[in-house]
Amino acid sequence: MMRLLHKFVYPLYTVAMLVLLSACSAEQDSPAPAGNSIATEQTPLITTEVTDNPFEQFDTGYSVRTLMNAIVQPNALEIWRAVRYVSTIDGVIEDVTPQTDEDWERLRTSAITLIEAGNALMIPGRVAEPADPDVEYPAYMYTSEEIQARLEANPEIWSSYIQAMQLFTQATLEAIERRDVLGLIETGGTINNACEGCHAKFWYRRDI
Ligand code: HEC
Repeated sequence: MMRLLHKFVYPLYTVAMLVLLSACSAEQDSPAPAGNSIATEQTPLITTEVTDNPFEQFDTGYSVRTLMNAIVQPNALEIWRAVRYVSTIDGVIEDVTPQTDEDWERLRTSAITLIEAGNALMIPGRVAEPADPDVEYPAYMYTSEEIQARLEANPEIWSSYIQAMQLFTQATLEAIERRDVLGLIETGGTINNACEGCHAKFWYRRDI
């Protein structure tokens, strides 16, 4: 959203300001008609400060946990559930594989979203949510403060797990684009190694 605003709204605003400024200087000799000053007094839609930090323009307000629940988990599940079967003692009763163009397109969207979620998770400043999660076994999880501290102390390890997730998902995306069901199962399964590797390092408590 911010990027869109920067791309489109800010240039438009700049153009609008230039037009207003030239209009103002043209009118300097004659007094401005009453009521005409409203446009020049408007507060800008966006104010951008030029800083040395290129990451300052990104919105990192959503926590790691929120991104996990809102983007990472649902899209990974979409991929993992694309091929499945239900079997009973009488044999396989339901055999699910992607069939239609829409099925494959949905998977493609999920893979791309998961890769991009990785980029969002790598933006410096992303935080662990302040409140402790309402987890089933809190003793086995680091607290949010501990997660935050681990995150800040190990940015390279954090990024390496994300890049692994992106790499495995990229291979999955290629299988999806080939419409290769077997490849989808094989590569899709590898994504979980990146999820669990990172959880084991940053989320699951190991000192108990
Ligand atoms: C780079 C590290 C990293 C990767 C990769 C990662 N996670 Fe996470 N995940 C975390 C951390 C850290 C937490 C704990 C966040 C918290 O509780 O503040 C978490 C929490 C979660 C949660 C729990 C949210 C909750 O409400 O308690 C889910 C679900 C989850 N991750 C799913 C996934 C899946 C699925 C993948 C892979 C497709 C994945 N994660 C990849 C770091 C990662």
